[in-house]
Amino acid sequence: MSSKKPVLKNDDEVELIRQSSLLVGKTLAELATRIRPGVTTMDLDRVAEEFIRDHGAYPGFLGYNKYPNSICASVNSAVVHGIPNDRPLLEGDILSLDIGVIKNEYWGDSAYTFAVGEVSPEVRQLLQVTKQSLYLAIEQAIAGMRIGDIGYAVQTHAESFGYGVVRDLVGHGVGRNLHEAPEVPNFGKRGQGMQLSEGLVIAIEPMINMGTRNVKQLKDGWTIVTADSKPSAHFEHTIVVRKQKAEVLSSFELIEKAEGLLA
Ligand code: MF3
Ligand code: CO
Repeated sequence: MSSKKPVLKNDDEVELIRQSSLLVGKTLAELATRIRPGVTTMDLDRVAEEFIRDHGAYPGFLGYNKYPNSICASVNSAVVHGIPNDRPLLEGDILSLDIGVIKNEYWGDSAYTFAVGEVSPEVRQLLQVTKQSLYLAIEQAIAGMRIGDIGYAVQTHAESFGYGVVRDLVGHGVGRNLHEAPEVPNFGKRGQGMQLSEGLVIAIEPMINMGTRNVKQLKDGWTIVTADSKPSAHFEHTIVVRKQKAEVLSSFELIEKAEGLLA
């Protein structure tokens, strides 16, 4: 799978992936305005599904490998792939929301971790550092650089804070399929791995744990949680590799605007 040759995208394809990715950002922002103590992740799932369908798209996670919902909603020690449920969110929780949509046959994939009300300074730093590690990785996604440069950027930043970098799950190519070649690990060595070419579209998605990097899967067959039950954060952008600077196809702009209004 990781050795499969990636499909490079032309500008028309990139525009379609951008439209899908921007819709994910809009959906996350719509959910951001509703995140508060008492709300359930099932409530957010229903809002997301309706919002995505109303925008002429399909919530791609729904039915993907038999996944039961439109969003992944991972609270506190859940890293990724949390299934929405009816437990109310609590003040001080963190909530990672991951959404994929398909529009005009192309995917967009993006994720963001939200604070529910006020969170501890330690948790706030985890969110900040994880988001920073994503942007440091994106700075490496230039033609001629290598997959290992992306992972190295995430790993060195996160580990300098003593955090654990999840290794069991990775970023991926994005296009007509959610998961295309290449695999994009959040750890690695400079100058190693596949060389990046202009038109390569990938989802970069650091999953960073406050404690150990080790994770396990719950018996629900989906939810990935930290082995030590400490919190974990996840931020994801879909980007396209260019010659001078990667273009970010998804966007956190509306999300951050919504967060600011709530603060
Ligand atoms: N968003 C995840 C990823 O980036 C995939 C979720 S797949 C689902 O790889 F089945 F859980 F929806
Ligand atoms: Co992804």
